[in-house]
Amino acid sequence: MPKLWCSVPSDAQDVESLRVIRNSCREFMTSMTDEISIEAQAAWWAQSPVMRGTPLLFHLLTEPNPIGFGLLRVQGVVFLTGGLLPRFRGKGYGAPLFQTLIALAVGVRMRPHLKVRSDNAQAVKLYKKLNFTAVSYLDSSGYSESPKGGVEIIGMRYEGDDASNC
Ligand SMILES: CC(C)(COP(=O)(O)OP(=O)(O)OC[C@H]1O[C@@H](n2cnc3c(N)ncnc32)[C@H](O)[C@@H]1OP(=O)(O)O)[C@@H](O)C(=O)NCCC(=O)NCCS
Repeated sequence: MPKLWCSVPSDAQDVESLRVIRNSCREFMTSMTDEISIEAQAAWWAQSPVMRGTPLLFHLLTEPNPIGFGLLRVQGVVFLTGGLLPRFRGKGYGAPLFQTLIALAVGVRMRPHLKVRSDNAQAVKLYKKLNFTAVSYLDSSGYSESPKGGVEIIGMRYEGDDASNC
């Protein structure tokens, strides 16, 4: 398993790293895919942690700057999202990144959920491997319990044994 370590963003440089990494992933996001400006990022950072969620930065020992980000946000249930800079994708770093987010949620007895585009094959494969199961599908006509085809937003829920008490 590749060695990734994570940190809690704390200063302006960290907030900028989060913005840059998230913007590099924006086409894969499920709610807002716009480029986030420096000003919009500052406004987001100024929100209370309850509103903005809990962000993390992910690092490799061999790299001076963070290579990935993660975010846990409570919206009824806890939703996870995250991503890697393009040149670090396809190398197996996604698994330890999302395992860290899962462990944080399960550690406070909240069952992880996430949303993923149905055409994001790499992410869907990773999430299934990490014990997420599809529970809902959303297209322009609304939620359903089975796929309707086309690009949909798939709602997934973590079914790992460690979440049995969540
Ligand atoms: C999604 C993401 C976190 C996955 O992390 P990663 O380290 O790149 O993923 P991996 O290399 O471990 O690949 C995951 C699996 O998908 C497979 N895969 C790779 N490319 C694929 C493709 N085009 N189609 C299907 N599967 C693919 C890999 O073989 C691997 O399966 P395996 O472990 O059985 O070999 C990363 O690619 C990323 O940051 N993407 C952009 C942002 C994003 O999509 N975030 C998620 C938003 S919901």
